[in-house]
Amino acid sequence: TSGTSTLTKRVLLAAPRGYCAGVDRAVVAVEKALETYGAPVYVRKEIVHNKYVVETLSERGAIFVNETDEVPEGARLVFSAHGVSPAVRESAAARSLDTIDATCPLVTKVHKEAVRFAKDDYDILLIGHTGHEEVEGTAGEAPEHVQVVNSPDEVDQVTVRDPEKVVWISQTTLSVDETMETVRRLREKFPSLQDPPSDDICYATQNRQVAVKKLAPECDVVIVVGSANSSNSVRLVEVALQAGARSAYRVDRSSEIDEAWLEGAATVGVTSGASVPEILVRDVVDLLEGRGFDDVQEVRTATEDLMFSLPRELRAGLKAAG
Ligand code: F3S
Repeated sequence: TSGTSTLTKRVLLAAPRGYCAGVDRAVVAVEKALETYGAPVYVRKEIVHNKYVVETLSERGAIFVNETDEVPEGARLVFSAHGVSPAVRESAAARSLDTIDATCPLVTKVHKEAVRFAKDDYDILLIGHTGHEEVEGTAGEAPEHVQVVNSPDEVDQVTVRDPEKVVWISQTTLSVDETMETVRRLREKFPSLQDPPSDDICYATQNRQVAVKKLAPECDVVIVVGSANSSNSVRLVEVALQAGARSAYRVDRSSEIDEAWLEGAATVGVTSGASVPEILVRDVVDLLEGRGFDDVQEVRTATEDLMFSLPRELRAGLKAAG
């Protein structure tokens, strides 16, 4: 006999992966607005952080802008899933824009926490990434009370007015483990640190991290489908590496896969961020199957059935349109 053995090359497909309830609602909101009112419909910032989604909606007549002052007076404007600060709402109102608020309800929940703790005059430590739209929106609810803590290493620099009156809250799409480390260090410094009333890192972020952790130790390569500015997608790469994947990469689409990554690999893990349509994952799996990775197994760690109703303004508009 020859010494060659046929290596089974397999794909482990994480589940849950891809669209969360908040992304689904936001994307459908723009689609329905286009159908109901016709193009153009303006959208402040990327509706969700995914290139393909933004390109597809642009082709259908959505116009993405950075700020409300780029929108013609009186036009219709959708706020993205990441939420907006009160200042943005005010400037939209000042231009008489007809707004549809596609902020994820789980982001709104964190905004409400910020408002409530600011009212009670707490120092609010918002764990999250400076410059991310969600963090700008949440911090904007109480700019006087909120300071952003980016990482465990930043804890050393944090100062507060009264160490007895400090609470932490967070961005919804962080690494659970890293956030817990930040909280641990904050609590070392401020033993009276209060926890938020409920988990701010959302169910979808948590579920996708648990799933990729489960398959990562068996993988030579983990491919995460998602855009570079998608916080939860970027976290999935980090989590996969920490959980023992030999390598992990993020791609926007299958064409970005470097063949060299697959050389000598027996097991490839695949997952996708919460803003990623399944068609992009399908393309990646098809490419892998074409390279001999034809044993595709799903690794499921949870089932999700959460759905949010469409933004209120849109439901009213749909009703009026019959
Ligand atoms: Fe909302 Fe979490 Fe998705 S905050 S938009 S459900 S990633």
